[in-house]
Amino acid sequence: MTHYRARIIGSGSYLPERRLHNDELAGRLDTSDEWIFSRTGIRERRIAAADQFTSDLATAAARQALAAASVAPDQIDLILVATSTPDLIFPATATQVQYKLGCHRGRAPAFDLQAVCTGFIYALSVAEKFIQSGSCRHALVIGAETFSRAVDWTDRTTCILFGDGAGAVVLRAEPITAAHHHPPGILSTHLHADGSYIDLLKGSGGYSQRAMPVLGLDQETNVAGVQMRGNEVFKQAVKALDEIVDETLVANQLTRTDVDWLVPHQANIRIIQSTAKRLGMEMDRVVVTVDRHGNTSAASVPLALDEAVRDGRIQPGHLVLMEAFGSGFTWGSALVRW
Ligand code: UT7
Repeated sequence: MTHYRARIIGSGSYLPERRLHNDELAGRLDTSDEWIFSRTGIRERRIAAADQFTSDLATAAARQALAAASVAPDQIDLILVATSTPDLIFPATATQVQYKLGCHRGRAPAFDLQAVCTGFIYALSVAEKFIQSGSCRHALVIGAETFSRAVDWTDRTTCILFGDGAGAVVLRAEPITAAHHHPPGILSTHLHADGSYIDLLKGSGGYSQRAMPVLGLDQETNVAGVQMRGNEVFKQAVKALDEIVDETLVANQLTRTDVDWLVPHQANIRIIQSTAKRLGMEMDRVVVTVDRHGNTSAASVPLALDEAVRDGRIQPGHLVLMEAFGSGFTWGSALVRW
């Protein structure tokens, strides 16, 4: 029986044109470029145009990834979109991406996965399982968000953090043979969640928590925008990411010096620096985009990955550690040999 490994054979990304600098926010809110940059590392973020939806950002990133992989849309037999800002609650944004790519006639399964900022890592892990089981040859895995539509733009504690964008990878099933000593591909993924932390970070929009006074159900529990107790989230993020880094290294019998590149979730430069320290890595081996993208939630890891692949930092044979932490809480990692 043939066993398969999932290999990333192409990546792509998309950022909306509109840049929103801290100075512009400081003109509207009681904040400053100095406060935002020193606390988060963010200078600017991108904002989707009025007629751009998450599926549009996702489709643009997917097209780039398909071109990089030299794979035609109709060769894709699985589409996963990690997002917490879908076009609609249903149908899944992934089905619209499939349609926009023009590969709907193949009827490949397409679904969304919601693990907030850890969404891309979760989706990568799910696609890897499809490939390992032999039920999929080419998978398209996308992280895409329009968080600018979710935040409350009068709340300075959250709106300054987020941005819009999308990143994508194409995975291919490669038979595992004894011939190649260090074959490229996903070496392991590690996923965790702890739902007891819901009140530290949550967003609005679910049907289920709406009031329905017409039926005598007037209990509205939906929150407005994004609600976060930033300081407490920060502490939990640092702790969980330290643990996941250790777990990933132990599972692969590696030491800290074996990792060539850290591609972290881009929520806060201080969280990224803390994880790099745990790995004993200098910051020049860490891919940082938070200064230009802000926190793009599920899009942040594939956006950073694509940037480092395209500018030539990540090279064949390199060991790349991706990690993320987000609302839920959810957290996870993926170790990949490029
Ligand atoms: O991606 C999912 C995971 N999310 C994260 O990992 C986010 C984790 N948390 C963080 O990144 C940080 O906690 C923040 C950047 C959100 C906040 O930084 P902080 O250093 O934890 O600040 P703080 O919340 O403790 O607030 C310090 C002060 C407060 O004023 P007082 O109470 O000390 O007078 C805030 O009201 O800063 C004030 N403040 C602001 N001041 C200027 C909060 N937001 C702003 C702002 N501009 N935008």
